[in-house]
Amino acid sequence: MTIGAPIPALSMKDLRAGYPGGGDIVRGITLDQAPETILAVIGPNGSGKSSFVKTLAGLLRTREGTIEVTGKKVSDLSPAKRVMSGLAYVPQEANVFRSLTIRENLKLATEFLRGRTGVGLAQEAQVMALFPELGQRPKTLAGNLSGGQRQMLAFACALLANPEVLLLDEPTAGLSPKFVGETMEAVVRVRESGVTVLLVEQNVAAATRIADEVMVLVAGMKRLMTRPSAISSADLADLFFGKAQ
Ligand SMILES: Nc1ncnc2c1ncn2[C@@H]1O[C@H](COP(=O)(O)OP(=O)(O)OP(=O)(O)O)[C@@H](O)[C@H]1O
Ligand SMILES: [Mg+2]
Repeated sequence: MTIGAPIPALSMKDLRAGYPGGGDIVRGITLDQAPETILAVIGPNGSGKSSFVKTLAGLLRTREGTIEVTGKKVSDLSPAKRVMSGLAYVPQEANVFRSLTIRENLKLATEFLRGRTGVGLAQEAQVMALFPELGQRPKTLAGNLSGGQRQMLAFACALLANPEVLLLDEPTAGLSPKFVGETMEAVVRVRESGVTVLLVEQNVAAATRIADEVMVLVAGMKRLMTRPSAISSADLADLFFGKAQ
């Protein structure tokens, strides 16, 4: 790193991971993500996007390489300790408790965060200001929310940890176009509030519209890392569907 360059919010080197008994799914990913940016991770189905974020979150053990959050190594830490180190994660599925209310989901999210700097009432107020709809109906069951509203609740729960970095795995999966737009607007608000966002998305158009940088993941490898304006649909079609190397 050059002298004077900001410490990346999220950094990894030669990251490799896989499921027990199987080969590597994440195959040597190196990247630095600047603070308060959105990095969109796109790629074909089964290319390892969810496995990649699970590795960052600590749900999949790092086999080789390192992960740092704001310059501190987290790759040996448990998932819970990574949250305490500033790395929050919203999984692709089952990311809220549907049988609990909005209020109860938010309360549960803070239960294990004692001791983390910046967690508390002020942070809660800041998070709720990002998602005013949630504050208006605290007693609504999460299961009775729309898909888009449920994603907002999942974001809010993760943000209560006052993270430096938020990992989002396909937050628009299954949402109607209207909610896709609202969810992307929420991601932008999260970034504007000072959080660095790594966003896995299958909706390439929506993700590239809000991203500062885009990484194309193919077969567990970083095949392209660029500004969204530099991506052509022909390049993407080649990377997604053809010219496998
Ligand atoms: N729990 C698991 N155990 C073993 N292999 C798994 C497991 N989950 C995923 N895989 C394998 O890892 C590879 C990558 O899957 P992953 O879910 O990470 O891809 P993805 O890019 O997120 O796909 P999608 O776009 O469908 O969400 C696939 O070959 C898949 O079969
Ligand atoms: Mg996935």
